[in-house]
Amino acid sequence: MAKSDEVFVGAIDQGTSSTRFLVFNTKGQVVASHQCEYENHYAKAGWVEKSPEEILGSVETAVAGACRRFNSLGYETSQIKSVGITNQRETTVAFDAETGKQLTNAIIWNDVRTKDVVRRLIDEAGSSTRFAATNGLPITTYFSAVKMRWMLENVPEVQAARERGTLRFGTIDTWLIYKLTGQYVTDVTNASRTMLMDIKTFQWSAECLEFFGVKAEELPEIRSSAEVYGTIGEGRLEGIPVAGCLGDQQAAMVGQSCFDPGEAKNTYGTGCFMLFNTGDKPIFSKNGLLTTVGFQLGPKATPKYALEGSIAVAGSAIQWLRDKIGLIASPPEIGLLSDSVDDNGGVYFVTAFSGLFAPYWRDDARGCIVGLTQYATRGHIARATLESVCYQTHAILDAMRKDSGTELRRLRVDGGMTSSEQMMQIQADILNIEVVRPEMLETTALGAALAAGLAVGVWKDESELRQVAQSNVTAYWTRISDDKRAEMLKGWEKAVERSLDWA
Ligand code: G3P
Repeated sequence: MAKSDEVFVGAIDQGTSSTRFLVFNTKGQVVASHQCEYENHYAKAGWVEKSPEEILGSVETAVAGACRRFNSLGYETSQIKSVGITNQRETTVAFDAETGKQLTNAIIWNDVRTKDVVRRLIDEAGSSTRFAATNGLPITTYFSAVKMRWMLENVPEVQAARERGTLRFGTIDTWLIYKLTGQYVTDVTNASRTMLMDIKTFQWSAECLEFFGVKAEELPEIRSSAEVYGTIGEGRLEGIPVAGCLGDQQAAMVGQSCFDPGEAKNTYGTGCFMLFNTGDKPIFSKNGLLTTVGFQLGPKATPKYALEGSIAVAGSAIQWLRDKIGLIASPPEIGLLSDSVDDNGGVYFVTAFSGLFAPYWRDDARGCIVGLTQYATRGHIARATLESVCYQTHAILDAMRKDSGTELRRLRVDGGMTSSEQMMQIQADILNIEVVRPEMLETTALGAALAAGLAVGVWKDESELRQVAQSNVTAYWTRISDDKRAEMLKGWEKAVERSLDWA
């Protein structure tokens, strides 16, 4: 017997370093959750990959853990009315339509093995922004189309499947929905990260397909972010519809209720991504930002656009300090270490492990720590690591200001790193605007759950979603002088020059 007739919505949050399954009640509170952290595979410098089957396995483990907890509270799994999926974007999977099996490891979004392919494509195109008016994006190692092209040129299993006509590409949402429900679909937000979707028609662009050498039949059907895509087959969630799908950064936009033009959020996960709602019209950046689809909450809903500033390395730098360097034993230590010093002591750490993303777009930039003296301590390096993300956020905010012509006065933040008070204060110091952190930090998963709940009538419209997404916030303001900020930013810019010079 179920404890009540209460209804719930589930969210699979498949990120770069972990997978989670969360169950939300209709007030948007987390009732049960389970997380599996995992390691990607770094076969060579610049390569980042992961087996799609293992990613699927992590979803099954997360679902099983959260369902056990949910059931132990007296609820039945059938009370979960729908499931939303939110995922690391751009990461590319190739599988075989006949066997349903992966053909090779997924190439993760921050992998830079494609840099030679990218150089060649830019030469052929004549400019890195040749297709930006169509797909909103520059040609870089980041997006899926160049990863597909690399697989087509380098992986015999992918070539053979193309010859047989059974090759299927997808981003992680597509792979998971396919394995869970048998349907071959994606949503507009994920499709907008492939370089293959026309962001005005929301269909695959014939011009981009031809240029990148991908066939339309090798790609999933593009659907809205909130509708029933299919029903989950055997397993813990059997019979429950998958009804929400958004790339993780777009899901965080929904979870932070950035529904109106001018509203923006910044999520500090493995990477860090600021999205600024530009409403019904795409804005094309002159300052290194991306034009992307924010969300489309239903097949008949008008898609909303966003300008995005992407930072490749955020939490992954902390993971690196823990796993590869041994500077800290656990992520929360970074804030405490950083607090052991008054300032960065002149040390700057440009965490360009995958080149530098927005607004620089230089895949040849490399990480560097500069300004070291005998005076420098572990505390200064910890502080420089946190500052690195905050300076890059500052550069993006500047670009957003220029592109949108809007002065952002308040930035909503979320993601793992925002649980550090030190990080939040440094960010407010550097940005010199109000930085607000919601009490409910699971905004990415909440966004996917809101889409899935809306699709099946758990919530009826956007205004209900807004109420559910509302959360108490903590606000941070700058505590440093303008002169100090200017000095810090100047040091950072010099450090970035060193990172760019490295090539
Ligand atoms: O574009 C990559 C992004 O979606 C990855 O997100 O949270 O795994 O850093 P995250």
